[in-house]
Amino acid sequence: MVFLMVAVCAASLSFLTYTYLARLNRILLNTPESIQKVSPKRWTKDELRQTYQRLEKNPITIKDYASRIPPKLDRRYIITGGSGLVGGYIVLQLLERGQPPESIRIVEFRPLSRADMLNGPASTVDLVNTDISSAESTNKAFEKPWPSSVAHLPLTVFHTAAVITPSDRSKLVYGLCESVNERGTQNILNAARKVGADILISTSSGSISIRPIKLWISPWKALTSSNANLPEMKNRLQIMDEKDFFEPPRKHEEHFANYAVSKARAERIVCKANSPELRTGSIRPANGVYGQPGDNTLWGTLAMGDCPTWCANVIQPFVHGINVALAHLDYEAVLASNPRAPQAGRPFVVTDPSPPVSYLDMYQAIGTLSNTPFRLKLVPPITMWLLSYAVEWYSLLPVKYPFLKRMLPEVKGDLRHMKPGLFSVTTHIVATNDNASRRVEEGGLGYTGVVTTLEGMVQEIVEWNIEHKGHKQAKKFQTSVSLADEIAKAAEAAAVMEKLGK
Ligand SMILES: *[C@@H]1O[C@H](CO)[C@@H](O)[C@H](O)[C@H]1NC(C)=O
Repeated sequence: MVFLMVAVCAASLSFLTYTYLARLNRILLNTPESIQKVSPKRWTKDELRQTYQRLEKNPITIKDYASRIPPKLDRRYIITGGSGLVGGYIVLQLLERGQPPESIRIVEFRPLSRADMLNGPASTVDLVNTDISSAESTNKAFEKPWPSSVAHLPLTVFHTAAVITPSDRSKLVYGLCESVNERGTQNILNAARKVGADILISTSSGSISIRPIKLWISPWKALTSSNANLPEMKNRLQIMDEKDFFEPPRKHEEHFANYAVSKARAERIVCKANSPELRTGSIRPANGVYGQPGDNTLWGTLAMGDCPTWCANVIQPFVHGINVALAHLDYEAVLASNPRAPQAGRPFVVTDPSPPVSYLDMYQAIGTLSNTPFRLKLVPPITMWLLSYAVEWYSLLPVKYPFLKRMLPEVKGDLRHMKPGLFSVTTHIVATNDNASRRVEEGGLGYTGVVTTLEGMVQEIVEWNIEHKGHKQAKKFQTSVSLADEIAKAAEAAAVMEKLGK
């Protein structure tokens, strides 16, 4: 008798739990109406093909937007992270507008690797191997003597270097972000002051304004709602703007992950330092910077081949590296022309000059245009959420209990990024560059992007296809592939779970 009662209770409880999770899944798959209004149009195969043909014949080159680059200034430049996605474009745009290569210094952790920098003037720019988390290494890079032709010129520092850990949110593992993003930025600021720089612009992150999603809505609300009238999770729909900067700093837990905590602190370090002697400010690229072979957003997805996804319906404000770099130069022009510019000492969000698109648009572009195989596999988002809690809990065990370190195998590949923070940064987001695009006389940067998301992504696929001419398979990228493998396994597990549930 008792056994039967326990069995009935257990059965009802698991039924309720299953139904609750299924409701959460339904909510996560729903695209709220308000977000559909901002981004009502999906890319069609026709427009993708037409854009592809146009860009294959006439790719967008730096010459095409040369007139949009702010005019040459008689200055010297240090670009940290200068061979990366944003830093590299800054270097190329500086060279294009006529800054001599000897007036530019790249301060970098790795050697030059961008194909578009390995030839021509960019390849002659001095690259100083530097670890910005070390004050000594940073000072050395900044204090290195300049060629006499430029040594007398005023100095601008563009600080784009950072580590991106997309999903860790525990204070216990804040160390890496702290040392590179936070302390590194302080080191850059100190070094910039030491060598007399008078402009410092750092690349911040739009993700600073993102708040964590509250997944666990009340079971009562979830279970009693109808499909026509779904309740919404808190923070599933967000505006990416600069408001938070003008408010007191947020607590650690009010950010989506450690990365954003460190970028917020770094941004305040830079902006607080603003003075007429050293004008400072930050550019916050919106979410999902792309536009260069090897970027995570698009190239990483192209490289997957088999692409499991839980967020196809999600709307994101992607931004091309070219646009982000231009915003840095716009900001510099403003600060260089006026030592008391009211624009100084604050962040500006920038995004592509086109409405945000959905992940599905990106997948559609890849599926339609890429010459390498691409298969989309839809995975229930709730399964990935649950998995992410497990991964986070497991990864923190050896941190909390060091004696476990030797016993527990490490989470490998990109599965280790599968932590709850990831879902907050890949939620529905609309970014606004209202302030950046205002005219300079009105307190803005006069920013307009030159590459739309459609053009930027399609052009990258053109480049991908050139890179893969004669290859039947994607050239493998370690991280993206292991993520695909791991998620595929999770997808299988999800399928099994679904069967059991039914
Ligand atoms: C624009 O900047 C002002 C401060 O100048 C700020 O209060 C406001 O929140 C910003 N707007 C957005 C959309 O970020």
